[in-house]
Amino acid sequence: MTEHAIPAAASVTDVLGLDHRRLDAVLSAAKQALHAGDVARGAERFAAFRAGLERHIAVEEEILFPAFEAATGMAQGGPTHVMRLEHRELRALMAEIGSALEGALDGPLTTPLAALTARIYAHNGKEERILYPAIDQIARGDDTLDALLEKVTSAL
Ligand SMILES: [Fe+2]
Ligand SMILES: [Fe+2]
Repeated sequence: MTEHAIPAAASVTDVLGLDHRRLDAVLSAAKQALHAGDVARGAERFAAFRAGLERHIAVEEEILFPAFEAATGMAQGGPTHVMRLEHRELRALMAEIGSALEGALDGPLTTPLAALTARIYAHNGKEERILYPAIDQIARGDDTLDALLEKVTSAL
């Protein structure tokens, strides 16, 4: 029997939803280490989380959102515009926490970490429930889903 390559996942919702879960686990490990007083491990896990979310955001902003915007004509004022604004807020919070962990900034980490966690939860929920399924539907409709998934998975 010949084995054929099976696509790792069938949709943008699957692939980027999985990446959300993966990143949630890294952030959770960072918070656990910090809570336990292991600042070195907390900082290392937070740096890994930050790099991973930056890559995830770049995939969205450079590959996924432009595909949605081109297909729908919705850019300014549309859902991807809102997601881009939220990415800026996430980046600002990550920068604040990153600086605090490097000792450049004094102050408790609990508040910005809680804010970051809450914002990511809300942001990811909107993407997974609304935007990713809409992008999957559009790409299935014009038969570009495989090509889009290939770009996304190779950039993640
Ligand atoms: Fe996003
Ligand atoms: Fe996302």
